[in-house]
Amino acid sequence: MRVELRQARPDDAQAIACIEVETWHTTYAGMLADRALLAMSPHRQAHMWSAALRLSPGDIWVAEDQQDGLLGFGYCGPQRDRSLPFDGEIYMLYVLPDAQGMGIGRALLQRLFARLAECRLRSALIWVLRVNPSRFFYERLGGKLACQRQIPFGGEAVPALGYGWVDLVAVPLPPRKSSAR
Ligand SMILES: CC(C)(COP(=O)(O)OP(=O)(O)OC[C@H]1O[C@@H](n2cnc3c(N)ncnc32)[C@H](O)[C@@H]1OP(=O)(O)O)[C@@H](O)C(=O)NCCC(=O)NCCS
Repeated sequence: MRVELRQARPDDAQAIACIEVETWHTTYAGMLADRALLAMSPHRQAHMWSAALRLSPGDIWVAEDQQDGLLGFGYCGPQRDRSLPFDGEIYMLYVLPDAQGMGIGRALLQRLFARLAECRLRSALIWVLRVNPSRFFYERLGGKLACQRQIPFGGEAVPALGYGWVDLVAVPLPPRKSSAR
């Protein structure tokens, strides 16, 4: 498998939406309300991604395999909650289940951090649902638990944890320990 990172293009909207919906289904089945998960629609999400790709193309990056197509994507930008002491935010980071544990998430996160730094945003926060074991991925990559809040999903308030990196420029990500998880 030869995976390359590149900036997303307008014609990636549908594939990005499919990755988003598939990873939500596999990650949160049994953790979040089934009805709300099943209501997620790749078609609707594709509209949202088309708009995001028009507005901020440089903030969305994809991991692509020549044979299998897109395997993951990440989306970053300025911090949405100005009361938090972080300039930048990772809005989303998703890798397809079959492609997880191969270093793609790390490579995408590194690219998003570089993008934030290029935009003079020197620190970053990412929100992750408390029930999501992916929070250990962020801990592994040096994120420090910085804040907590409730995120609305499917009519429920779901606890979420905010992981922060205070200096994207001076502090590199911890090196890899393994070639696969
Ligand atoms: C979380 C996610 C983006 C990580 O991407 P990935 O490609 O699977 O992770 P990588 O292979 O790059 O792993 C990087 C390091 O984190 C570690 N890691 C990854 N997932 C982990 C987990 N769940 N628990 C503990 N460590 C983990 C790996 O072992 C690796 O360590 P190493 O560098 O020492 O070898 C991906 O698994 C995913 O999309 N999950 C489902 C969706 C999701 O929860 N997204 C986050 C929403 S906030």
